[in-house]
Amino acid sequence: MSLPPGFLDELRDRVSLSAIAGRKVTWDMKKTNQAKGDWWAPCPFHQEKSASFHVDDKKGFYYCFGCQAKGNVYGFVQETENLSFMEAVEMLCREAGMEMPARDPRAAKEAEKRASLWDVMEAAVRHFRTNLNGARARAARDYIDGRGLSADTVARFEIGFAPDGRTDLLDHLKAKGFDQAQIVEAGLAIQPDDGGSPYDRFRGRIMFPIRDARGKCISFGGRAMDPNARAKYLNGPATPLFDKSRALYNIGPAREAAGKAQALIVAEGYMDVIALAQAGFSHAVAPLGTAVTADQLRMLWRVVDEPVIALDGDAAGLRAARKVVDTALPLLEPGRSLRFLILPEGQDPDDLIRAQGPQAMAALLEETRAMVDILWEREIEGKNFDSPERRAALDASLRKAIGRITDPSIRRHYGEAIRERRQLLFGGNRPQQAENRWQPARVNRRAQEVMPAASTRASLLAQSADDPASRARIRESAILYVCLNHPSLAMEHEDALERLGFACDDLGKMRDVLLSCLAEHLGDADLAGEVSARLGFDCIEKLTAIGHVRSHPHLGPGANPDHAAQALREEIARQTAIQGMTSELRDVAEEPADEEDDRTEWRLREAVAARDTGLRGIGQDDARVIGDETDLADLLSSFVKDEIWVKKR
Ligand code: UTP
Ligand code: MN
Repeated sequence: MSLPPGFLDELRDRVSLSAIAGRKVTWDMKKTNQAKGDWWAPCPFHQEKSASFHVDDKKGFYYCFGCQAKGNVYGFVQETENLSFMEAVEMLCREAGMEMPARDPRAAKEAEKRASLWDVMEAAVRHFRTNLNGARARAARDYIDGRGLSADTVARFEIGFAPDGRTDLLDHLKAKGFDQAQIVEAGLAIQPDDGGSPYDRFRGRIMFPIRDARGKCISFGGRAMDPNARAKYLNGPATPLFDKSRALYNIGPAREAAGKAQALIVAEGYMDVIALAQAGFSHAVAPLGTAVTADQLRMLWRVVDEPVIALDGDAAGLRAARKVVDTALPLLEPGRSLRFLILPEGQDPDDLIRAQGPQAMAALLEETRAMVDILWEREIEGKNFDSPERRAALDASLRKAIGRITDPSIRRHYGEAIRERRQLLFGGNRPQQAENRWQPARVNRRAQEVMPAASTRASLLAQSADDPASRARIRESAILYVCLNHPSLAMEHEDALERLGFACDDLGKMRDVLLSCLAEHLGDADLAGEVSARLGFDCIEKLTAIGHVRSHPHLGPGANPDHAAQALREEIARQTAIQGMTSELRDVAEEPADEEDDRTEWRLREAVAARDTGLRGIGQDDARVIGDETDLADLLSSFVKDEIWVKKR
């Protein structure tokens, strides 16, 4: 229905959000600033002890810094009272003493219909429960005993029984004054298409009421006792009350218990939830015979940050786990994820608890697995990566999976986590250990630029520096150029690249972007395009503006991959060595020169000469066959290792 313009604003101005919210929360008066209309409380939408829920009374908005729940007074009432928007408006109208504009008769009827459907459902719950105590329910009671459910559990889950009659429930409800049409609409009876008379949907089954988060009965699940029954479980159909993709069995009690347990378990079936509760794990829910949906995940995340998905230890369970991963990836937010508990082969939580007791379950809950592991295993399981093509296919599918994560920082972390696993799997591609030593804590980004200092040593450095800045630019451009042309090489040297200091800030930035592209796309085929797009200019053009880079035979897109690999390795080694060297030398240069030591000075001279040769590197006009200079980096390393600047008496 449409309300007169301005009506909602006026109503909103008349009621105070803090007054309405104050009925559902306990304000933290230390944090609250009443005068400013700033109210704080533990959030009513998720379990917490701190006060992350904020009401801004002036703006009429609430926001929870913990679960991100937000909205205005209408949203708050809808959420906390489980009302439709119109119902919330009506309720607030009454509070504010305002006259509700005449209602749309159709909406009014909808609301009435829902209310009456709830009544039908409650009457059915009572009837099924009564039946379970009757003479016809002996087999049902035996079955329940046989499954080890206590009387207490039966009462707690309101387990009931639908006898094997055609119209047992229908007759009962009609006698109570409910319409046949309502009973059909509630999903309790089936109206045959041929116009015949309706009959009970659930016959000869143990009945499990399904309640929503507010405790309203919205559907039933019925389990056949006969092992040969057509369907082991029968769930109610979609009705105005029930949408199975948004419902979770036991969500209300589980939500309560989750606060204390600081956890929430998602099992596969009704009986798992019930067995778990009986064993002391009251914080368990189950979807209703379908894979976990995005809506259900959101419901779970409202309760805890990392629900534990407990899946049967069989192929179907594993498949279900992987499906949940796919559903969850685009929904991940910092801190929000899933954990996975994989049960022993062929068991569900019910079986496990019956066979080995609650402590076996508790032990498994201690060793749940991260989502990234489930994802990784799915990608590699049963596959062989003995060829470049197969590895590339793996990269492509990982890239695709990670690309589905919308949160950029999570995407980056997944990229990193996956890369670690990838490196472990393929091995051998890590930079040599020796290079690791080249990461002095003091590495300076501008290491190439040697500050002139008023000492002999300093002047030594300054005089020999053969335009270090432009040499650095050439080398750094060369490194980036090889990487952009050969993404797989970049991937291989990712760690070294990450550690490398760049003297040229603009190129350092390009390196950062390149790394984040790798992290997110794991070696995208068009790395140069991707990096250029992010930087807003053509990287290739920028890098090839330098003649040495453009004309070098081993760097470009058409270069022999082995030569390119070697060129990259060496330039990285050189850059790393020079960097470590220069920063150490500079420290020496800046040291007060109290006493001259010939030996140190000689070694310094040597080091500087070596450094300068290194600085030339790729910029050599006589583009020598790469490989001649491998020992240069080694020489530089040995200087640093020996700490040649330390005076040795
Ligand atoms: P399972 O086949 O794992 O059954 O189905 P279960 O939970 O272990 O049941 P018990 O222990 O044999 O009694 C898991 C869930 O899948 C749905 C139900 O929601 C069930 O709880 N299901 C299963 C159906 O909807 N229909 C079926 O025929 C079977
Ligand atoms: Mn079972």
